[in-house]
Amino acid sequence: MNIDGKLTAKRLREKLSIEVMELKSQHGINPKLTVILVGEDPASQVYVKNKVKQTQEIGMISDEIKLPRDTSEKELLNQLERLNHDESVHGILVQLPLPKHIDESTIIAAISPNKDVDGFHAMNSGRLFNGEKGALVPCTPQGCVMLAKQHLGDDLSGMHAVVIGRSNIVGKPVAMLLLQENCTVTIAHSRTKNLPEVCKQADILVAAVGIAEFVKADWVKPEATVIDVGINRVLTDEGKYRLVGDVDYANVVNKCAAITPVPGGVGPMTIACLLKNTILAAKQSIS
Ligand code: GUN
Repeated sequence: MNIDGKLTAKRLREKLSIEVMELKSQHGINPKLTVILVGEDPASQVYVKNKVKQTQEIGMISDEIKLPRDTSEKELLNQLERLNHDESVHGILVQLPLPKHIDESTIIAAISPNKDVDGFHAMNSGRLFNGEKGALVPCTPQGCVMLAKQHLGDDLSGMHAVVIGRSNIVGKPVAMLLLQENCTVTIAHSRTKNLPEVCKQADILVAAVGIAEFVKADWVKPEATVIDVGINRVLTDEGKYRLVGDVDYANVVNKCAAITPVPGGVGPMTIACLLKNTILAAKQSIS
């Protein structure tokens, strides 16, 4: 069966819009997310447009700063310095990837950890690693755990979660979140020996490798819940592009207990969790 990310994200946004109303009426705070886009990358423009739209739809303030491609690292750092000190701004997101002449890790380190709604700052990854409350946790990993719970219920204790992929954005943080949920966690990757056998042990299988239809039907046990993080563009026989995940969906869907489709699975959850993080940052700014 499918796990419906679109519907789960919609329900989360509805819940968040109530929290926004309460923040406004009880504390006079209107959560504000500022998104910075450097350059004209077409995919990034689409992502940013969706972020702005959904921020406004739940009643929050959205601010978009568009900077030319040749913006210097110093100029971007100056903008961040200004936003870090602007009390009306609760969340700051710098859309990645950045042009080559700007160092991403320098930029991420310059965002105030309290406004780092991507959860990429070392302070937030450290808080997550230490299991501290109040950390701003990366959005896609949060969405993955919510979708797993959508099918399995809130208690994931003792389940074996296998994560394929070890990126700072998905693989490592989703492994930490699943560990917090008392799963037994295996982090697998491209160099893992006997990867199909390792995956076959998974009660929860998270695929975040970035390779189209990489996970095959005989890697998955019948009871498994499969969370597909991949978004890959492949050319069809008709010469058109089609979006596929990291899992061979057509062959896996009937071999496992539940799976997130692509599109309509993890993708919609990411922006919903970004809104959730911005509201958390706004709440934490009052206390
Ligand atoms: N580019 C693609 N995905 C993301 C994301 O989650 N955050 C940021 N900042 N940039 C991205």
